[in-house]
Amino acid sequence: MATIGATDVQRPVSVLFVCLGNICRSPMAEGVFRTLTKTDKRVGKVDSAGTGAYHEGCPPDPRTMSVLEENGDIDYNHEARKVRSSDFKDFDFVLAMDDENLHDLLRLQIRLVRNSGAHAAPAKVMLFGDFGGKKGEQVVDPYYGARDGFTIAYEQMVRFSSGFIEQVLQDGDAEEVAGK
Ligand code: 4NP
Repeated sequence: MATIGATDVQRPVSVLFVCLGNICRSPMAEGVFRTLTKTDKRVGKVDSAGTGAYHEGCPPDPRTMSVLEENGDIDYNHEARKVRSSDFKDFDFVLAMDDENLHDLLRLQIRLVRNSGAHAAPAKVMLFGDFGGKKGEQVVDPYYGARDGFTIAYEQMVRFSSGFIEQVLQDGDAEEVAGK
């Protein structure tokens, strides 16, 4: 379990994956991460959401599901939802798929802190790709493209998830990882 906050309290780490529509990339990230950490007691709540509400209530894109199923990640259901203020309190990590998602999330978090006081939104908001070995790697939106965009994204999800597990769960200092 990671050490979180100034105190040395150790508890399971919760993670929210975020993209724009919450039907392609972030549900794929959630599905992959859930599979890789299925029996891992160091992991708590795992979910995904979108910065936009276009597809609220919809299941993941069929291409996301087929890539997950092709790789054995079949035990997964999700309904798209928009990011909410409470996410910044309920999750230790909020992980964006691209720079635009990251920008939107940081703006939301700042607004929330301004409105309700310091420490109201302690989540570490980062680019998921920062865990892949190359700082700043983004997951390109595959929605309007061909299926291979989804297979490329899948490879990234596996690599980023493995990096997260190694850097946050095994190394154990979430504050240091987040650069705070
Ligand atoms: P996602 O992909 O952000 O990876 O879920 C998208 C899905 C839908 C739309 C954009 C991106 N859309 O504009 O409807």
